Amino acid sequence: MDICGPRSSLWKELVLVASLLAWGSRQASGQLSIIPDSLIGVKGYRSLLTLENVPENVREYSWHRGAEDSVDNMIVSYRPPSDSWQTGPVFSSRQNVTRKGDLVFKSTELQDAGNYTVRVDSGNGTHRATGWLEVRELERDPVIWANTTSVGEDMDPVAAFCHTNGTNIKWYVNYIPVSSNDRMTISPDGKTLVILRVSRHDKELHCSIESIPEIVQRSDVIFLDVAYGPDSAQLWSTPTALRGIVTAELGSQVQMECTATSEPRPKYYWSHNGSLLSFLEKNITLLNLTWEQMGRYRCVLENPVVQLTLYREVLIQAPRHIPAVSRGFSISGPLVVFLITMTVLGSLYVCGILIYALISHLSTRQTRLREHPPKTRQTGSDEQREMLRR
Ligand SMILES: *[C@@H]1O[C@H](CO)[C@@H](O)[C@H](O)[C@H]1NC(C)=O
Ligand SMILES: *[C@@H]1O[C@H](CO)[C@@H](O)[C@H](O)[C@H]1NC(C)=O
Ligand SMILES: *[C@@H]1O[C@H](CO)[C@@H](O)[C@H](O)[C@H]1NC(C)=O
Ligand SMILES: *[C@@H]1O[C@H](CO)[C@@H](O)[C@H](O)[C@H]1NC(C)=O
Ligand SMILES: *[C@@H]1O[C@H](CO)[C@@H](O)[C@H](O)[C@H]1NC(C)=O
Ligand SMILES: *[C@@H]1O[C@H](CO)[C@@H](O)[C@H](O)[C@H]1NC(C)=O
Repeated sequence: MDICGPRSSLWKELVLVASLLAWGSRQASGQLSIIPDSLIGVKGYRSLLTLENVPENVREYSWHRGAEDSVDNMIVSYRPPSDSWQTGPVFSSRQNVTRKGDLVFKSTELQDAGNYTVRVDSGNGTHRATGWLEVRELERDPVIWANTTSVGEDMDPVAAFCHTNGTNIKWYVNYIPVSSNDRMTISPDGKTLVILRVSRHDKELHCSIESIPEIVQRSDVIFLDVAYGPDSAQLWSTPTALRGIVTAELGSQVQMECTATSEPRPKYYWSHNGSLLSFLEKNITLLNLTWEQMGRYRCVLENPVVQLTLYREVLIQAPRHIPAVSRGFSISGPLVVFLITMTVLGSLYVCGILIYALISHLSTRQTRLREHPPKTRQTGSDEQREMLRR
């Protein structure tokens, strides 16, 4: 008995040396160890004390509470040769050993914090290692709230709040972390995100905390309903419009379709030559084109939420055939009569002028002949006669 006492205390010393080695020089190759040394367990979650450098031909893995591997503080052991488990005095139903020798806590409690020692008996001797488990309690998951979720693009600001006692608050838009920038600001305590000008791409918002390193707790996701547009409006037609003109034969079919990027779906209004049509669909089909249906069509798109409108136009006209060209020069009946009359009158006028000119020319000549006889006949007496006449 006396011998036993010192031996047992020597055992304890050996255990302490072994555990100190386990603590201090885990990197030393080949040494059995628990990784990581200081594991952080989370209350209510599974924790695992994993072994490293396990020797071959293990006969038993035995886990103990505290820094020693005494029988009194044994939790549970596993014997690979017989594939059997044995529980010890400090066993709780939340614990077990895996077939690889790791200690598992199905649901960790705060009182599970402390030292744990494993003893591994193998064909190559007995190995020990001690590790420390720290247990923390998670904050409650953050709760997100926004003052509005229906907004117009570039119009309305949105404020979102992250309710938590946790630290390390982060904000995400579409699952991408965001920080204060020209479009959004995050309050100094991190709890408020204000998006000053919401974009159509700002769809999903959430926040997260990381009160325990590497354990990220996310809030629910808030979905923003962003109204935008209309933009990129187009008026498509069959036959295709060329520089805004659709050339179509009488009796042919013409289809028009108005498209735009808009959320919500835009309202469509159509007008023909300035008068509003009762049609409110995105496309129009003229099955059998008539003269009355030719002309200018306008499609007006309206975003009912943002109250922005946009329009596109197209002109439908008949093709310019050769007869169409001669028709371009055709003259109406009354106009023909008018033109003929004008031509006749004009001719008569010209003839009249010609005749008048001829007559007056001839008569002038006769007068001149009368008044100015040939020079040979001119005498001083003529001049005298003239003067006398005066
Ligand atoms: C440990 O788990 C094994 C199965 O993985 C099971 O057979 C065994 O009963 C468990 N032991 C204890 C003590 O819960
Ligand atoms: C755990 O073990 C370390 C070193 O062996 C010791 O310093 C510490 O006090 C122990 N903690 C408890 C709670 O036993
Ligand atoms: C036995 O342990 C020593 C060191 O403790 C090691 O060098 C050796 O490879 C081990 N042999 C077996 C079979 O595990
Ligand atoms: C939401 O909060 C922002 C920022 O405080 C504010 O500008 C906006 O008007 C608020 N919206 C509503 C609908 O209350
Ligand atoms: C924050 O902590 C206080 C006091 O500890 C508690 O009353 C409150 O419910 C906690 N809030 C959240 C969101 O966890
Ligand atoms: C609109 O187009 C679709 C197919 O693109 C067609 O089925 C529908 O009949 C058209 N509606 C009108 C009114 O033209």
